[in-house]
Amino acid sequence: MTQSVDRVVIVGAGTMGVTLAKLMLAHRISVRMIDTHHAALERCRQAIDLAFSDAATPVGKLEVQTGWSREGNDTIVIESVTENLAIKRVVIAEAEANCGTGTLIVTNTSGLSIDAIGQDMRHPERLAGAHFFNPADLIPAVEVIPGAATTSSAIHRTCDFLTRIGKRPAVLKQSVPGFVANRIQHAIMRECLSLLEKGVVDAKALDEIVQFSIGVRLALNGPLMQRDLNGLDTHLNIARYLYEDLEDTHTPSRLLEEHVAKGWLGIKAGRGFYEWDQAGTRQTTREALERVISLAMEQKGGEGNENV
Ligand SMILES: NC(=O)c1ccc[n+]([C@@H]2O[C@H](COP(=O)([O-])OP(=O)(O)OC[C@H]3O[C@@H](n4cnc5c(N)ncnc54)[C@H](O)[C@@H]3O)[C@@H](O)[C@H]2O)c1
Repeated sequence: MTQSVDRVVIVGAGTMGVTLAKLMLAHRISVRMIDTHHAALERCRQAIDLAFSDAATPVGKLEVQTGWSREGNDTIVIESVTENLAIKRVVIAEAEANCGTGTLIVTNTSGLSIDAIGQDMRHPERLAGAHFFNPADLIPAVEVIPGAATTSSAIHRTCDFLTRIGKRPAVLKQSVPGFVANRIQHAIMRECLSLLEKGVVDAKALDEIVQFSIGVRLALNGPLMQRDLNGLDTHLNIARYLYEDLEDTHTPSRLLEEHVAKGWLGIKAGRGFYEWDQAGTRQTTREALERVISLAMEQKGGEGNENV
């Protein structure tokens, strides 16, 4: 069993850092948030104040600071700074220098190599990947990724901690670029963008087809279980004639490059694949997401998938 953790250090008060802080505080775990930018810390503090302004039950305590304090062994460090290997290497080395030797250090990288991130550590055996999904306080899954040096004890501690805060940790056997979720997400998007580029379908029809077919199925069952339900022989018959026609480019799509070059970055820029305005903004609400998650949990039942 792991010792109980009452405080975490989160490094990086950006999109993920703020939702990670909400998650911890809601579980009465106090948070020391470190970010080099005062403005990011201020935004974090405001978001947390707003989130817990009428909390009925006590929550953990938030401290924000721009630099490190000495940490003991009873803390977990969650690195969630900009997705840049050089920056992460420095932050992880700083974490190690400021923490007791028993401190578990996890990185929330979306897919960088755990070994490369821990390259400057003296004790890389206590570094693991813990890839949360946005918003971290809501989405249940967390990919747990060992580096070559990570001990099974560090993986167990990571999983125990994640389970304690209501997450569903799933452990990879090894670190591969993009881990599992981003590899699959990018495989799907490579084909979607190729279909748009070839003029097979427009954005609205593509979204309609995917959301109300594969999308609704995947909310209830993982892709492999879903294929079991449909029949593997049929899947194989289709695979035999289809794969030679699927997109297999090794570079990002031309359409995607063009959109980004034009500043069409999506809802935050007012235009992406769709045009967005204030009145027409249609983001998935937290309540809708919560309903889908609870349906998926009901379907799947309580068992986790640590595979340690
Ligand atoms: N945004 C997502 O949907 C998402 C989902 C899962 C994982 N991630 C991963 O989480 C991490 C953070 O992503 P984000 O979207 O929150 O990024 P972000 O750009 O919103 O925030 C990054 C924060 O890190 C801070 N920072 C940069 N260098 C620092 C340093 N040396 N010390 C302390 N703070 C520093 C920045 O000031 C900024 O506030 C990335 O590794 C990303 O790949 C992001």
